[in-house]
Amino acid sequence: MCGIVGYIGNNDSKEILLKGLEKLEYRGYDSAGIAVKNENGIHVFKAKGRIADLRGIVNENVMAEIGIGHTRWATHGVPSMVNSHPHQSESGRFTLVHNGVIENYDLLKREYLADVRFESETDTEVIVQLVDKFAHEGFETLEAFRNTLKLLHGSYALALLDAEDNETIYVAKNKSPLLVGLGDGFNVVASDAMAMLQVTNQYVELMDKEIVIVAKDEVTIQNLAGETINRTPYTAELDASDIEKGTYPHYMLKEIDEQPAVLRKIIQAYQNDQGQLKIEEEIISAVKAADRIYIIAAGTSYHAGLVGKQFIENLAKVPVEVHISSEFGYNMPLLSERPLFIFISQSGETADSRAVLVQVKEMGYPALTITNVPGSTLSREADYTLLLHAGPEIAVASTKAYTAQLAVLGILAEVTAKSRGLEVSFDLIHELGLAANAMEVLCDSKEIIEVMAREFLSVTRNCFFIGRGIDFYVGLEGALKLKEISYIQAEGFAGGELKHGTIALIEEGTPVIALATQESVNLSIRGNVKEVVARGANPCIISMNGLNMDEDSFVIPEVHELLTPLISVIPLQLLAYYAALHRDCDVDKPRNLAKSVTVE
Ligand code: F6R
Repeated sequence: MCGIVGYIGNNDSKEILLKGLEKLEYRGYDSAGIAVKNENGIHVFKAKGRIADLRGIVNENVMAEIGIGHTRWATHGVPSMVNSHPHQSESGRFTLVHNGVIENYDLLKREYLADVRFESETDTEVIVQLVDKFAHEGFETLEAFRNTLKLLHGSYALALLDAEDNETIYVAKNKSPLLVGLGDGFNVVASDAMAMLQVTNQYVELMDKEIVIVAKDEVTIQNLAGETINRTPYTAELDASDIEKGTYPHYMLKEIDEQPAVLRKIIQAYQNDQGQLKIEEEIISAVKAADRIYIIAAGTSYHAGLVGKQFIENLAKVPVEVHISSEFGYNMPLLSERPLFIFISQSGETADSRAVLVQVKEMGYPALTITNVPGSTLSREADYTLLLHAGPEIAVASTKAYTAQLAVLGILAEVTAKSRGLEVSFDLIHELGLAANAMEVLCDSKEIIEVMAREFLSVTRNCFFIGRGIDFYVGLEGALKLKEISYIQAEGFAGGELKHGTIALIEEGTPVIALATQESVNLSIRGNVKEVVARGANPCIISMNGLNMDEDSFVIPEVHELLTPLISVIPLQLLAYYAALHRDCDVDKPRNLAKSVTVE
């Protein structure tokens, strides 16, 4: 959460910073600011709201070849001008942007900065005031910065300007993502390579507790002890068009439509020359060595984990537990003797999941990360990685990453099963291919689903999703999609569970979206629909071809029963999209949310 950028070179920095922030807006959009420095000093521009608001107040006449910028997702202090970054020290000498949370900021304030007047409610301001305090005591800026970092507990990606130095941006990182981008006669800083793809595709990864001295012709990485570290840059394999909306009105719609192509890409990426699914031998050995798998994830990725459990238990016959990452660390279950941990995370940066990864690595257990972002923190810190190959997912609501997660989990289950000598009664490559075709049919059904969204969701305050077995898990995801972007209160329930309390909420006209894609529970879920209809609900049954009945609202193409979640989620994603659109909500940037949740 929060995005930071920096530029030092020979060109005016304002536009580069603003463009970079626009690309990072998915990380937070409560407020934004930039600070640029020229011979007249440091100029700070801040605005509550979006980058577009910031653009409106930046003084075009200020030219400056060095600058830093920030887009905020509020943690400490409400979204406001005063709490927005960059923050300045009391003397005005230092200016700082920060992504992360400083856990001991209050203590530091009392112990070191009792006589300093603070402007904001943020934890960040403590950092910039501490640098100033050390500088005031006679330390050079680099030393003052280093001394400060040694006192911080928590997560940070930082970029610092010194009003007395025209040559340097000081940068540091711990737990929050940060990259330095290399150019010809300039260098940049960014939370994500996407932000600076406009100027470079050459990046240097930073490790936790490193400091970087960024000049326009040189980048020096040091550890906290002051030792220089050499690191080879890498080329960001991103296509600028991947991060543009093109002709689509929203990223979310574009990403929904990309799902068939992503699925086909995954089938290719995980296939060997003999046309069989493959996964690195050491990963399969780790899965086979485990007596139990623990899937750790948050939000949509957690929902993918629930389906993944069905895949792995059904095909590979390894018991699986699925846990919400923010709960697991504090309430760890009794672990088996030989656990394997699988972290599912689109971004690979989710702080709650990372906290568990750190814990289980300390306990000496093996970990596999399934992520969309190569080189992300969770990928780097786990023993093994499986990539989603979904391309950048920009809309805050996850869509293509979810179906990609399901596909990769399915492939992991199949390859493990075969490697254990277990029979898999169907050809997964073929079935995934059929699923990709079915996805295309669904993506072409937008008009019908838009009408359904109007019919079921245009005036309601709440909505229930019900299903049994694997459909229940897809219902949880459908409810999350709907609530996060349309603000309709939506909950997913196991079909049989509704009558144990929640049915009390059914009123005349309450929409209940029921999934019926599983033969074994087709009649029982329809029985649950009857129960809610008898109490006034407005039912919307989404069934699979072959199991459909006259009263169904929408029928999805037939695919293998185990793979239905890859398909049945698409009408739910589209329902959420159109419900949000009809309500005039900001589909890609829903309120209070951010794409990459890097605070615990
Ligand atoms: C919902 C959504 C979130 C994320 C969650 C975990 O649409 O996107 O619920 O799934 O914040 O994020 P990752 O997968 O990046 O760990």
